[in-house]
Amino acid sequence: MLKAAVNWKPWHLPVNLHNPRSGNLHQYMEQEPKRYLVTSALPYANGPKHLGHLAGAYLPADIYVRYLRAKKKDVVYICGSDEHGAAITIQAMKENTSPKAIVDKYHALLKSNMADLGISFDIYHRTSSPIHHQTAQEFFKKLNDAGQLEKKESEQFYDESAKTFLADRYITGTCPVCGNPSAYGDQCEKCGTSLSPEQLINPKSTLSGNPPIKKATTHWYLPLDKHEGFLRKWILEDHINDWRPTVTGQCKSWLDQGLQPRAVTRDLEWGVKLPEGTEGGEGKVLYVWFDAPIGYISATRQWAADNNKPWQPYWEDKGTKLVHFIGKDNIVFHCIIFPVMLKLHGNILPDNVPGNEFMNLEGEKMSTSRGWSIELDEYIADFVHKDNGGDMMVDALRYYLTSIAPETKDSEFTWKGFQEALNSELVAIFGNFINRSFVLMHKLCQGKVPPLHPGIMDDKDKQFLDEISATKTKLEDGLEHYRFREGLTTVMDLARKGNKYMQEKEPWIVARQIGENGQPTPEAQAKIDNCLHICLQLCANLAIYINPFLPFTAKKMLHMMKVVDKMLEWENAGKHKLLSVGYSLRAPELLFRKMEDAEVTEQVKKLKMKAEKIAEGKEKESVAAQGPSVAVKPEIVFDDFAKIDLKTGIIKAAEKVEKADKLLKLTVDLGFETRTIVSGIAMHFKPEDIVGRQVVVVANLAPRKMRGIESNGMILMAEDPEGKLHFVSPAEAIAAGSGVS
Ligand code: 2FM
Ligand code: ZN
Repeated sequence: MLKAAVNWKPWHLPVNLHNPRSGNLHQYMEQEPKRYLVTSALPYANGPKHLGHLAGAYLPADIYVRYLRAKKKDVVYICGSDEHGAAITIQAMKENTSPKAIVDKYHALLKSNMADLGISFDIYHRTSSPIHHQTAQEFFKKLNDAGQLEKKESEQFYDESAKTFLADRYITGTCPVCGNPSAYGDQCEKCGTSLSPEQLINPKSTLSGNPPIKKATTHWYLPLDKHEGFLRKWILEDHINDWRPTVTGQCKSWLDQGLQPRAVTRDLEWGVKLPEGTEGGEGKVLYVWFDAPIGYISATRQWAADNNKPWQPYWEDKGTKLVHFIGKDNIVFHCIIFPVMLKLHGNILPDNVPGNEFMNLEGEKMSTSRGWSIELDEYIADFVHKDNGGDMMVDALRYYLTSIAPETKDSEFTWKGFQEALNSELVAIFGNFINRSFVLMHKLCQGKVPPLHPGIMDDKDKQFLDEISATKTKLEDGLEHYRFREGLTTVMDLARKGNKYMQEKEPWIVARQIGENGQPTPEAQAKIDNCLHICLQLCANLAIYINPFLPFTAKKMLHMMKVVDKMLEWENAGKHKLLSVGYSLRAPELLFRKMEDAEVTEQVKKLKMKAEKIAEGKEKESVAAQGPSVAVKPEIVFDDFAKIDLKTGIIKAAEKVEKADKLLKLTVDLGFETRTIVSGIAMHFKPEDIVGRQVVVVANLAPRKMRGIESNGMILMAEDPEGKLHFVSPAEAIAAGSGVS
């Protein structure tokens, strides 16, 4: 026993029980970064986040930093809650509480959700902290004192009854693109279009319900237009080859539209106040998108203070490689606005901004507000906390999300796809290989790592050992270039090859060559030994390779192999002697479990019910917001009315508009012509029930595109107090195209 121990590698349990981080981390080649600073977009602490967020900004960053840590790089992974802006104050209004109560509640939720899902931030900070306010104020002051900001008066939307200026989010109205009546002044969450409040049809203040007016106010602006040349060179020349085309493409389109000065202050209560002594700065706060990215710096400061380290090198020394992981809706802020701020402030710039596209869900855009989402806390409650050994379901999720990561284009989460990935890949390929290797090693090799007999190694053995080593370089290439999806495939391919190798070697068949003693013959045993020796070395390698992606699985594998964390260090990857001959290993543990059909059905049903419930609530809200139907609009003269050309028509065909719950596409016969009219009545009528109905049509309404379909006219409907719609039509049958007046 003692003799064997001499040969054991230092990561075997009896020799070294813990994993001290190695001391000198700075022996890099010249162009190697001295340190890495990795950030994930600070999520708004205004509610739970969904799986799309996880896949976009957190999981890929976590994979990257786990890889860097395995390489013993100096890396700090920064994140925290974004606790300012209208997202927070609007949620406070909705929950009838204070912004502070909102951020406290959701900061705690987000922090614990991320930890449950194995997202290994070095710090999860918050922008409501004093150190953040101080850092953001100092940043603003430095730029302002240096004359880098412009101060000017402009007209902003103002709510007269609430006596306050309105952030874009505080203005709602009808989306000019899809007709959603609850679009925000900055974005329509239904069709995803970025908007400005001016574009909304019938804009209303969310505070009073009244239409806002324009009023003059003074603000500080970041003159982005002055930095266009720098941005063009930096993004479209220096980084055109190493940044994702989707990211540079979006930047190019912003740059080609021409950059405008951007206001970096707001007339609001909640936020980082302007530094004391800023002339005219009373009652104003920093725009949330000015303070939030500075949150990366304040979080670094806090981390450094907690760890007794200097923070400045991370933001000032060019040897730092700064990488921002974000979703595509954040590209302009991280590639255009924040870099200009950093440059003016004298900081380093990001080396890369791996922005992800969106992950859709069961055929639709993921959206918390529409209930079409799987929230992190829902997944955790259903699969992690409920399930025995829920860690395996964390890794299952990390696996599926990475395998469909929207790195180059939007992707799609489906519960069926999740089940398929879990059952047919993780269980059937990866889990199966590890399990078989351990079971056979216990059955045919007395539960110990068998020796390798080089003299009888054949080409398959040698080639397979080469595969194990070659995977390292291939995987490094994927991980270092932010192609995590490809990286995961590389690891799975190796596991797949492991199964194939074992299948070809068939040690269970070889074991039937029994000698006189009733045991396999020495020749047979040597073949079995070689196969299982190689398979077990592959198990050890697979633990290293899979660790950045599925850390809980890697940990379980370490336990099965009775080795310490240190074995997972990247320098061990690709080696063939990770497990010493004669070392006894534990019995296999279950790494993954299958997902049942019933679970898939239940989750899909749950999702649909949640979305329907929210849609019903919104419908009621919007009817209530319209107020009693007895209210009469302001007076018009006859000529105003005479401009409207009303005609009778007959619905000839009706069908649902794809991906729009509320819209029906109608074909209406107007006698003199047939029109396509898109009408928002799908929640009230089934298409087959309305074919043949007489309707009254506004025939001279300008055409409008809805969901890509041009609508030519509008059907008149009456709405009862419950919000139910009724057709307005002539009492008797009448020729299509008859005038109505
Ligand atoms: O889009 C968002 O959720 C923002 N809260 C992201 C901020 S990222 C950074 F700038 F802080
Ligand atoms: Zn829209």
